[in-house]
Amino acid sequence: MNSKDIRKQFLAFFKSKEHHIVPSAPMVIKDDPTLLFTNAGMNQFKAQFLGIDQPKAPRVADTQKCLRVSGKHNDLEEVGKDTYHHTMFEMLGNWSFGDYFKEEAITWAWELLTEVFKIDKDRLYVSVFEGSTDADALEKDHEAYALWRNIVPEDRIIMGNKKDNFWEMGDQGPCGPCSEIHVDLRPDGERAKTPGASLVNADHPLVVELWNLVFMQYNRKANGSLEPLPAKHVDTGMGFERLCMVLQNVTSNYDTDVFTPLIREMETITNAVYGKKAETDIAIRVIVDHIRAVAFSIADGQLPSNTGAGYVIRRILRRAVRYGFTFLDTKEPFMFRLAQVLARTMGEAFPELKEQKQLIENVVKEEEQSFLKTLDQGLVLLDVMIANTKGKVVDGAKAFELYDTFGFPIDLTALILGEKGYTLDEAGFNTAMQAQKDRSKSASAVSKQDWVVLLDDKEQEFVGYDVLEARVNLVKYREVTSKKGGTQYQLVFNLTPFYPEGGGQIGDKGYLEASNGDVVYITDTKRENNEIVHYAKNLPKKPDASLNAVVDAKHRALTEANHTATHLLHQALREVLGGHVEQKGSSVQANYLRFDFSHFSKMTPAELQQVEDFVNARIHGRLPLEERRNVPMQEALASGAMALFGEKYGDTVRTIQFGKSVELCGGTHVKNTGDIWHFKIKSEGAVAAGIRRVEAITSDAAKTFFLESQEALDQVREVLGRAQDPVKAVAGLQEENAALKKQLAQLLKDKAKNLKSELMNHLEEVNGARFLARKLDLDAASIKDLCFEMGQGRQDLFLLFATEQNGKALLSCYISKKLVAAKALHAGTIVRELGKHIQGGGGGQPFFATAGGKRPEGIPEALERARTYLG
Ligand code: ALA
Repeated sequence: MNSKDIRKQFLAFFKSKEHHIVPSAPMVIKDDPTLLFTNAGMNQFKAQFLGIDQPKAPRVADTQKCLRVSGKHNDLEEVGKDTYHHTMFEMLGNWSFGDYFKEEAITWAWELLTEVFKIDKDRLYVSVFEGSTDADALEKDHEAYALWRNIVPEDRIIMGNKKDNFWEMGDQGPCGPCSEIHVDLRPDGERAKTPGASLVNADHPLVVELWNLVFMQYNRKANGSLEPLPAKHVDTGMGFERLCMVLQNVTSNYDTDVFTPLIREMETITNAVYGKKAETDIAIRVIVDHIRAVAFSIADGQLPSNTGAGYVIRRILRRAVRYGFTFLDTKEPFMFRLAQVLARTMGEAFPELKEQKQLIENVVKEEEQSFLKTLDQGLVLLDVMIANTKGKVVDGAKAFELYDTFGFPIDLTALILGEKGYTLDEAGFNTAMQAQKDRSKSASAVSKQDWVVLLDDKEQEFVGYDVLEARVNLVKYREVTSKKGGTQYQLVFNLTPFYPEGGGQIGDKGYLEASNGDVVYITDTKRENNEIVHYAKNLPKKPDASLNAVVDAKHRALTEANHTATHLLHQALREVLGGHVEQKGSSVQANYLRFDFSHFSKMTPAELQQVEDFVNARIHGRLPLEERRNVPMQEALASGAMALFGEKYGDTVRTIQFGKSVELCGGTHVKNTGDIWHFKIKSEGAVAAGIRRVEAITSDAAKTFFLESQEALDQVREVLGRAQDPVKAVAGLQEENAALKKQLAQLLKDKAKNLKSELMNHLEEVNGARFLARKLDLDAASIKDLCFEMGQGRQDLFLLFATEQNGKALLSCYISKKLVAAKALHAGTIVRELGKHIQGGGGGQPFFATAGGKRPEGIPEALERARTYLG
């Protein structure tokens, strides 16, 4: 069975059990500050588990793209070395939200594996939570044990501890005991010798976990305690690639059709053969794994960068490039070539890979190129480091610098050092690394207390589309302490007019006012797990009283002008540049806007002007806002609104229309485009291969810009003697300047000519040579010209000229070539010796050399000593 059919069958099975099939959520998470990437299928349902959101359906199933490279679930270092861990993988899952529980979850999992997929029952083992004696004091999962006992013999049930059989999403959040299903793929002979039960959870490559059934019952709080959830849920996750391995009768995930096309392509690119040598195999596995992580992220709109999620992606890509560089001898970009294989093999289940293929290729290729350059530079610096090393151990702190400042991988450093007979002072490296970690940890350390809940109000309403002021009640708050910003409070209300940062738009600011006049300032608003969290410097004095929440109207209005202008800019770019333009990111602030989009060349001044004109025409056309809420997604798409890759949309969406610009958007906008006043582009440039960025201003910022430009122009006019037409006046000055320069050059030439004939008259005969030593008022280049002109046609000249400029002295010595030979002279040696008088040094060729020094007072002495060289 091929992987496409396996995926389809899984979903069809749960559909037959009345599950609602949902699409995978984006892999890159944009609205949860506690998580960078989706690391489990349940992430998108966290709010449902916690009871914050109502589930859309009681039973749900999907295949979720996951990435486990940071935080609690991090498999990065395992990838490549073994055959069953991945960075990016698909998690097949089924969920019950307060609906069915352990019995159905266990029975259906068994039915699917043994009856539909027909996996040999004798190869399957299950594990059950044994309970804990720590502070949590959790009971053994008797219920799951009894249920499994109805299905499998006792010796196939393994009791597991908290590490293996109590699943937690992170340090905080929903959790519960779990039951895993493991598969034993060893040959019969080996299975007869050693029972599989002893190898479960023992890192055996052929006895691996296949499916995890989590029975969500608790919420882990910030203070470490467990609180029961309002309802009991089921959360399951099965490794899709591992399932393919089992059903395709192979013993490595990399031998399934999920990976073999990528491996074949790597063999073609590098001429390496997979399956022959451990080192090569690891490198190939790392690369074909990592390209998936990188490609899926880019398709989700997350480009490699220097911070946050983008930095994680950059590091994954670099890790793969480095494996290629070291073990497959790839010195040119190659990973980008794998994007088309991915588009072909996975494009059906994940169309974004097909549609974004060109972009993925461009971005990956450019990243590869720049990292290969880093590697080249690093190799040179490493050579310098080795040259400066006394003994055979290279300083760990220096190696850390190379790693930290240039991104040069430390294992590559160690490898190269080994090849050259050196070793790395690893302890020194680790100390430097730890010191840096401590520094950044203490700078960004944030500790969050548990929420203090005042009201049992789960449904939180955003009223900020319609009003900027509302009476609110505080539902809960928590204290947040960071080393940088001191103590702050995060507040959640029953309803709020404050817009939480999202869709590129910055969060609202404002204040809360109590009836006694007390004011608390709100500095920012963000969304977290579907709740709107307000950031405040302090807590209202009477947290349980009702408060008046007031949004900073000016800040909001300026932001809205920029948001609407962003939509018009998007429309303009597609109109002027073409339909290939797609939004790749945006930042809508109060004082400016930034818009990133796909396009492959620099915009011309004419195109920029056209875009500006297009937007301004719509501003001056005073188009009214047409807002529709709760539009079914299909209907919105049919009306021409474009959905962005990597964004999470519900079944119904909000559309924002101004004239012919229609977008799916949750942000806030002006009521009429006339409110934007004016749109002005400030810059256009590249952010990555195939991605351009326009920065622009509107409204007050545009006014200020024009006023300041006017003021600058007035000043120029003033300086130009109140010129009516400053452009003409400046052009006139430039012309005059050019003419004067020409005149000056001619004068200097004449002066040099006169000087030459005057100096020729002063040549003195010294021991058969013609000699002259003098201080001149000329620059270095003119002196050099003068020397060579005087020397033309002569065989016996010895000149020493000195000049003084800006407090520095310069000596120039010229000797005819014949004289050099006849008297064994060297101008370089002479200026070096005479240079001592001016406290300087220099050198050059036997017939011409110069020396600079910082003691002009020594010039007469140097001139005086010159003749001694002629004997
Ligand atoms: N959430 C569970 C896991 O990731 C199913 O293993």
